[in-house]
Amino acid sequence: MVDFQALIASARVTLLASGNQRGIAFDAARDIPAQTGKVILVTGGAGDLGRTVATEFARHGPARVYIADLPREDGGASVVAAVRAAVGDENAPVRYLGVDLASFESIKTAVREFCAAEERLDVAVLNAGIMRVRPGVTEEGYEIAFGINYLGHALLTRLLMPTLLRTAELPGADVRVVAVSSEGHNMAPKGGIVFDKLKGTFEEIKYYQRYGQSKVAIIGFARELAQRHPQIKVVAVHPGRIITGMAHGLQKESLLFKVTAPISPLFCVSPEIGVRNHLWAATGADVVSGKYYEPVGVPDKETTVAKDTELSKKLWEWTEKALEGIVLE
Ligand SMILES: NC(=O)c1ccc[n+]([C@@H]2O[C@H](COP(=O)([O-])OP(=O)(O)OC[C@H]3O[C@@H](n4cnc5c(N)ncnc54)[C@H](OP(=O)(O)O)[C@@H]3O)[C@@H](O)[C@H]2O)c1
Repeated sequence: MVDFQALIASARVTLLASGNQRGIAFDAARDIPAQTGKVILVTGGAGDLGRTVATEFARHGPARVYIADLPREDGGASVVAAVRAAVGDENAPVRYLGVDLASFESIKTAVREFCAAEERLDVAVLNAGIMRVRPGVTEEGYEIAFGINYLGHALLTRLLMPTLLRTAELPGADVRVVAVSSEGHNMAPKGGIVFDKLKGTFEEIKYYQRYGQSKVAIIGFARELAQRHPQIKVVAVHPGRIITGMAHGLQKESLLFKVTAPISPLFCVSPEIGVRNHLWAATGADVVSGKYYEPVGVPDKETTVAKDTELSKKLWEWTEKALEGIVLE
């Protein structure tokens, strides 16, 4: 049966997306403070927005920027080279960290590798994401969008938390977790998160509803994590509308996207503009922990269901159970 509410939400997101022009002015070159000594990790760092975030950070003198993305045959060398070229410094401190967020084992291996190399982690940008993919499940059997966009990130953060909290104790530290959601969270199924369908393919609903569900979860996760760790800042962000790898996939498969593709430059922006909210949230002065921003610096625009603290609390408890006993041995 067609869920008309979700269909309307999907059309609204396609045709009337939140403009990137709204919100506070943020210019990466001017407004990102020196990142001296900081270690930064960006998931989905090989994708369009993630690569741009990594590049902007690398321009501001950090100790290291980790591009965490799917393992590659060349070990990520070509992505690292592309970021260094964009920065204009062939020695820019950029590293690749292979991680498949659809696999707990891969996440554990990546965190072990990271922790063996680094003492600190100042900024984690949880940016990787998928949208229109065939129904599927992760290695552990979770619905694929929820598993990658939310649960993989929840496990990654949990395993990195000792490093994040240790870093927060260092003099002058300003530790942040930026979780990339989407205004598309308004396409989630009724109730926001359907807990008894998180395992399995959940094919009964549309791909955009599965995406929406994962992005509602990201917003709730940021709020709950922020409450538990006041010594760090945790926020969720929507980047705006940007033609990236994700949108190219959609244009191939979605009729609505195909039809609107020729006029998409009228309502889409470049990755350089699209990452302003990521970068503002990761470095800006007035960021309030626990909030959702859509796009740059504009809080509280999430849907009623994404605001529901009972739902986020339930998600937290569910997540604790799902990830119970997963440790770095
Ligand atoms: N573009 C927009 O208009 C828009 C709007 C709202 C929110 N967002 C959010 O912005 C974030 C970045 O997306 P994007 O637009 O930059 O799309 P993108 O270019 O497709 O980047 C997504 C990245 O995530 C990686 N990824 C996919 N599956 C993974 C896995 N299992 N483990 C680790 N990494 C994985 C992708 O790798 P491969 O390319 O190798 O698969 C890709 O590098 C996403 O969370 C998305 O939901 C984007």
